[in-house]
Amino acid sequence: MNSKPRSQAGPAVASRTSAPRSHHFRGSLGRFATGVAIVTFDGATKRRGITVNSFTSVSMEPPLVLVSIARNTKAHDELAGRPFTVNILGAEQRQLAMHFAGRPGQDPAWVEGETAPRLAGVLAYFECTPWAAYDGGDHTLYLGEVADFNYRNGDALAFANSGFTTIPESQLGIEDLL
Ligand SMILES: Cc1cc2nc3c(=O)[nH]c(=O)nc-3n(C[C@H](O)[C@H](O)[C@H](O)COP(=O)(O)O)c2cc1C
Repeated sequence: MNSKPRSQAGPAVASRTSAPRSHHFRGSLGRFATGVAIVTFDGATKRRGITVNSFTSVSMEPPLVLVSIARNTKAHDELAGRPFTVNILGAEQRQLAMHFAGRPGQDPAWVEGETAPRLAGVLAYFECTPWAAYDGGDHTLYLGEVADFNYRNGDALAFANSGFTTIPESQLGIEDLL
């Protein structure tokens, strides 16, 4: 057997290629596996959505979550001061992720939330009122206070190493331990 196990550590990539530093910064960040979400909201003129993997839970009391939105997106300016929903995607919703990442396909099914519009059939959602916005370099960190949420069972859509993958639903949740 001369094939290496996939998990075997190799030499650090950034030190043995001549690609720009920003390329390796992205590559290093990409090693952090995340879920995939879509932030939906009613903008000034139309309903909007943007795919993100920068979703983070922030606070239990008050219940706060954050997303980091690039300044050069259409969503960026319009999201300021507006209610929004973070829709967490299930494993079978890759096309929905691409739809809101600049590769539009079939129009999605919407649900009129109490606080902000959301997408039908997602794995979980958090409807938020705007809480704060912080400068994050070429991004803005938008924090929302969660007004409503829910979830269903199912495998999660994940993003790692620049590609989509699946995180299977575990047999039992560990919510009680957290
Ligand atoms: C998996 C994935 C994760 C992404 N995460 C973010 C993110 O956290 N923040 C962000 O600003 N853009 C993120 N993007 C890029 C935006 O979805 C993309 O630029 C989008 O087309 C912007 O839409 P808009 O310009 O219509 O607002 C991500 C894209 C993908 C495919």
